[in-house]
Amino acid sequence: MDKTSPSGPIGIFDSGYGGLSVFKEIQQLLPQYDYIYLGDNARVPYGTRSFDTVYNYTKQCVFKLFEMGCNLVILACNTASAKALRTLQHNDLPAGKKVLGVIRPTTEIVHNYTKTNKIGILATTGTVKSESYKIEVHKFNPEIEVFQHDCPFWVPLVENNEINTEGAHYFVQKDIRELLQQSDQIDTIVLACTHYPLLLPVIEKYVPKGVTVISQGPVVAGSLQDYLHRHAEVEASCSKNGQLAFYTTDDPRDFETKAQIFFGKPVDASHISV
Ligand code: DGL
Repeated sequence: MDKTSPSGPIGIFDSGYGGLSVFKEIQQLLPQYDYIYLGDNARVPYGTRSFDTVYNYTKQCVFKLFEMGCNLVILACNTASAKALRTLQHNDLPAGKKVLGVIRPTTEIVHNYTKTNKIGILATTGTVKSESYKIEVHKFNPEIEVFQHDCPFWVPLVENNEINTEGAHYFVQKDIRELLQQSDQIDTIVLACTHYPLLLPVIEKYVPKGVTVISQGPVVAGSLQDYLHRHAEVEASCSKNGQLAFYTTDDPRDFETKAQIFFGKPVDASHISV
């Protein structure tokens, strides 16, 4: 890390509102830092798009956060972490800039939950197709069998605040049944899309007793805290005035209305072009 570059806010990026479920936990655990949240609401969903498109969109947003002074950016989006993180880290990062994702922190802890060594992954179509969870889980725990199921309707349900509707109940019940039909020994389900914890009250109705559901927010927040302890130079590059800023590529008034529901408190948002 370049010691001469000024410290800056931590950037949190998602395709839309879902990353707020991660940001909320990060900000609660690490309130001393400054943060900029960027939601690419104008181009959500990412989960149904090609590798190239997700990579290009993610790169534009991450570089916008760098331009705004961030030295560390968290991809609070599984689809972007699955399809863009590796290439960004290997090919694109300017000196002194870091990008982290949400898949690695999650796959590092799943063995703490499963007793049967059979876990289920609920995610977007893009994340499922990338096989990133299978690959990362097997790096740490080759004995764990990973079953995946994509839930293409869940992100639109969350983005449109259709969380406790008949439609949400229908799709959540159907998708959980289809995942669990793959093995009756699945005892742990990872909500591997940052939008999905917002559906938790509905999800819990359809998950059988004895099956643990993992939301990523607290996991990613704990992992970031640990990362900053271990990387003093990155920690020193993060400014600490406890300030938050929210940007959206779509309408900021819509963002404020919905973000409040997902972030748990009122937010002031501004429009940004990437
Ligand atoms: N929130 C994103 C994730 O964690 C995906 C939502 C989308 O499809 O854009 O995968």
